[in-house]
Formats: sequence, C-alpha cells, structure tokens
Amino acid sequence: MSIQCSVFIATSLDGFIARTNGAIDWLSLDTDSVDSQQEDYGYQQFFDSVDALVMGRNTYEIILAFPTWPYDRKPVIVLSQGHPNVPASLQDRIEIMAAAPDTVMQHCAERGFHRIYIDGGQTIQRFLRMGLIHDITLTRIPILIGEGIPLFGALADDVRLEHLSTQVFAQGLVQSQYRIHSGD
Ligand SMILES: NC(=O)c1ccc[n+]([C@@H]2O[C@H](COP(=O)([O-])OP(=O)(O)OC[C@H]3O[C@@H](n4cnc5c(N)ncnc54)[C@H](OP(=O)(O)O)[C@@H]3O)[C@@H](O)[C@H]2O)c1
Repeated sequence: MSIQCSVFIATSLDGFIARTNGAIDWLSLDTDSVDSQQEDYGYQQFFDSVDALVMGRNTYEIILAFPTWPYDRKPVIVLSQGHPNVPASLQDRIEIMAAAPDTVMQHCAERGFHRIYIDGGQTIQRFLRMGLIHDITLTRIPILIGEGIPLFGALADDVRLEHLSTQVFAQGLVQSQYRIHSGD
C-alpha cells in the first residue's frame, strides 16, 4: 500500500493544539501587518497536495462550526465511534468511519488516494503509534497557553524524525518539516 500520511499543524510553544475546551482562538495572529494578511504559511500548497483528509470527531466538530466549510469538495473521513451530525450539503464528501488507522489507510488506498492529511491530536497520536505518519509540518506559535490538548502523547517506542527544513516567519512563527523514519 503506497500511501503517504501527512500532518500539517500548529502548536503553542508549550506543545498544545487547542485549549482544554477545544478553543483555538490563540492561533489567530495580530493581522494588522500586511505580511501576515498575505502569508498562509504554505497551507494552500500543502492542501493542494493531498487527496483527502482523515480527522478525529473533535476536530470535525470545531471545523463544522466555522462560518464556511474550508475543504471545498475534497473527501473528508471523520473518525468516530458515534454518529456525528453531517449536514445535507456535505454528505457527498464526508464519510464517518470507526476503524483502526491501518484499516482506514487500506480504505483510502482502495479509494485511490495517495496522500492524506491527518488531523486532530488523538488521531495523529494513533497514526503515529502505528508508524503510519510519513511527514509532519509543525508550526510553532510564540505563545504559552499553559494547559490544553497536546499534539503528542505516550508512545510504546521512540520515534525518530529527520529534520528537513525550518523557516521563520514574521511575528516569530517557526515552521519545521520532518520526515519520520519508522513510517518509511
Ligand atoms: N492547532 C491546530 O493546528 C489544530 C489542528 C487540528 C485540530 N486542532 C484542535 O484539536 C482539538 C481536537 O483534537 P483531539 O485530540 O481532541 O482529537 P481528535 O483526533 O480531533 O478527535 C478525537 C476523536 O476522534 C475519534 N477517533 C479517533 N480515532 C478513531 C478511530 N480510529 N476510530 C474511531 N474513532 C476515532 C473519537 O471520536 P468519538 O469520541 O466520536 O468516538 C475521538 O474521541 C480541537 O480542539 C481542534 O480545534 C488544532
């Protein structure tokens, strides 16, 4: 199965992806500067390179509350043991699945996907634990939020990463790209 699972995510400097209540208000920068209004930190290029998204139900519910659905017509697989609400307007592009990460990837391969955007803290951790993440683009925001939902968690074994590049953006955002050895 030749399928690439990629992470593109932002954390606080203390390693959180959201506040404990799920809020991501701290991700927004002061957008007074022209630079920050025009800069998307490579997101669109990354987004265009993936065939589909796989995200946890918690992330899905945060995104669903956005004023507009941000993923156009790209297929989105939402992982949940429950029955998350899917609005009628999105039913042609959202699929709910409850399965182990390797089964989810098998399903993605059968659908002809080559590169998948994996999103959500618990979901990323589960894929990492199974050695299924190929690369991570991590943008660190210069803020400490003290407590929240962590990006990384417990592992059975160490995971070694190869650092590919680091870029510093205006307002002190530091974005690093890594490839994961065990996922190769
Ligand atoms: N900073 C950023 O760039 C960024 C990016 C993405 C998300 N976020 C934030 O991160 C928070 C969400 O992360 P999170 O760690 O809470 O979790 P998450 O991964 O988004 O969602 C976890 C949920 O996904 C479901 N799930 C995951 N793997 C599954 C599997 N293999 N089979 C079935 N269900 C599975 C379960 O849902 P059920 O309980 O329904 O079974 C689980 O409770 C949100 O606040 C979001 O805004 C931040």
